[in-house]
Amino acid sequence: MDVQLKQLNGVPLTKPIADQWERVEEFKARPDDLLIATYPKAGTTWMQEIVDSIMNDGELEKNKRAPTHVRSPFLEMLTFVSSGVDVLNNTPSPRLVKTHLPSELVPKSFWEQKCKTIYVARNAKDTLSYYFFDLMNKIQPDPGTWEQYMEKFLKGEVAWGNWFDHVSGWWNAKDKHEILYVFYEDIKKDTKREIRKVMKFQKNLSEEALDKICHHTSFKAMKENPMANYSTIPNMLLDQTVSPFMRKGEVADWKNHFTESQSKMFDEEYEERMKGTDLKFRTNI
Ligand code: A3P
Repeated sequence: MDVQLKQLNGVPLTKPIADQWERVEEFKARPDDLLIATYPKAGTTWMQEIVDSIMNDGELEKNKRAPTHVRSPFLEMLTFVSSGVDVLNNTPSPRLVKTHLPSELVPKSFWEQKCKTIYVARNAKDTLSYYFFDLMNKIQPDPGTWEQYMEKFLKGEVAWGNWFDHVSGWWNAKDKHEILYVFYEDIKKDTKREIRKVMKFQKNLSEEALDKICHHTSFKAMKENPMANYSTIPNMLLDQTVSPFMRKGEVADWKNHFTESQSKMFDEEYEERMKGTDLKFRTNI
């Protein structure tokens, strides 16, 4: 498949999304929508499972009702088989909405309706798990080599654009809207504490429910769960024989892929680009 990206206000998106942008822009959010926003590969699916578990009061049987992309539709996604906007318009409230949009492209009705939003951020080096995803994802452009991909990533020439602008744009947005900003590394390091934080933001549940949710949303449990591991998506779209969706689930896996000189070059560029922000990431835990 020849997949192209097209710029929308300086942000590269897959062409079908950019071509029919008005439908996303005019999307009508509802006040009880909960928005999960991330840069791709930051732990979106993990947070979707956590939030759905809380929404179901820890009655985890209910999470088995459908795969992730049905329980928590992907707002801007548009392919020849489905449209996130159409799916969401037909989804009863309360809705869990997924987006990868940078904060400035989020449909304004989410802010007008004061929807709660959870943003998950992951350190840039591990976010390059995006390379392995683009290798298996047939609806995004071919990533080329690891070296070429790293260059495109740093220039923001991958789908959903520039990581630096994304994480810092949302970091600034959290002071204006009801946004819980969490880090993949923190969830990995102290899952209970971070899920408790999400509960406080979304809905308080018992310690017993918290324990069950921690277990249900562990990497191992999600990897084996057909309703969370994207195995219901056909191989012609996501080819898990190339790379599994639930790939490693670790902090610092980047060390297995960056050469020493790539890491040094990346760190220099990173320092330069993150100069103006107090946003701090950990590349180790
Ligand atoms: P890796 O490719 O580094 O393994 P997204 O859902 O935003 O596309 O992010 C996918 C990344 O989150 C993948 O990272 C995936 O393995 C990881 N992930 C998914 N569920 C996880 C979990 N329960 N615990 C830890 N990592 C998880």
